[in-house]
Amino acid sequence: MRVLVVGGAGYIGSHMVRLLDRAGHQVVVLDNLSTGFEKAVTAGDLVVGDMADSALVESVLKKHRIEAVMHFAAFALVGESVENPAKYYQNNVVGTLSLLESMRRCGVTRIVFSSTCATYGVPEVLPIRETSNQAPVNPYGFTKLVCERALQDYAHAYDFGFAALRYFNAAGASPVGDIGEDHDPETHLIPIILQVALNQRESVTIFGDDWATRDGTCVRDYIHVDDLGAAHLAALEKLEPGKGLKINLGSGRGYSVREVIDCCRQVTGIDIDFEIGSRRAGDPPELVAEPVLAKELLGWTPQYDEIQAIVETAWKWHQQHPSGYNS
Ligand code: UFG
Repeated sequence: MRVLVVGGAGYIGSHMVRLLDRAGHQVVVLDNLSTGFEKAVTAGDLVVGDMADSALVESVLKKHRIEAVMHFAAFALVGESVENPAKYYQNNVVGTLSLLESMRRCGVTRIVFSSTCATYGVPEVLPIRETSNQAPVNPYGFTKLVCERALQDYAHAYDFGFAALRYFNAAGASPVGDIGEDHDPETHLIPIILQVALNQRESVTIFGDDWATRDGTCVRDYIHVDDLGAAHLAALEKLEPGKGLKINLGSGRGYSVREVIDCCRQVTGIDIDFEIGSRRAGDPPELVAEPVLAKELLGWTPQYDEIQAIVETAWKWHQQHPSGYNS
């Protein structure tokens, strides 16, 4: 299929581009490089531009006779979304609505959309099912929920076929170690811990050890980026006009912050220092997916079923690229 990957120079998008290419799809990347890297695009054509630039998007859709869109272009930091919601509404909502309109005008109606477990807010029941109440507790989660709703309405009214894939915590890197996670500033747990191992930070701060979890620290469901990509490939084949899939992408297993630090110590062989800090605003205590629907509808289960294997790939990337793509 001819696929436009919007945000294909970013962390998850760049891994997707490689998997699409390997699966025999033709790939075009659209990325404004605001957080993405040209070097991360290892296949297909890269068009540098914004999804809100309708003239550009429409010309790309037509010129490359695009059949489906995968949309990864979003700001995704919970804390930042609380501080600067305008940035999130502008890009994640206004940008996405513009992209959908460009698609509609060009008759491209298939889309796989990156959604998030942040649309659930603080879950009432764990593990989280797709039917759980969606009540986001931060602007980031809300922007994604608005897009899910727009997709549903586009499916109903304009015969769009979509999949909204609700990621839990994306982690890891390509096993070869040539593409991986590079954010500035870095806020994600595993890269921060590995930066301590690389002597780039003195210690990692645990955001609260007084949560009602098994060891007092927050629990998350970490999922390898290539496993996310594999689920997108499967979803692409399942898109049907007028229908929407809403699917959790997680492993079903949660790890506490302390457990992740222990795992990184084992993988690196380095005694990583940590300190206990206060809770971070907007953090739910525990987010773990019920992954059964992904298996049923997509035939998908994660290949990386242990966090150790995920951290090993991240460690390889960080060792080979201590300064990210500028290494
Ligand atoms: N954490 C620390 N110290 C740090 C960084 C993180 O203790 O220095 C903790 C956080 O409190 C959280 C866990 O480690 O409990 C994971 O934090 P990340 O920042 O790596 O990831 P988040 O769970 O906050 O965010 C991820 C995605 C978001 C998505 C969110 C859903 O990156 O896009 O899950 O809650 F919205």
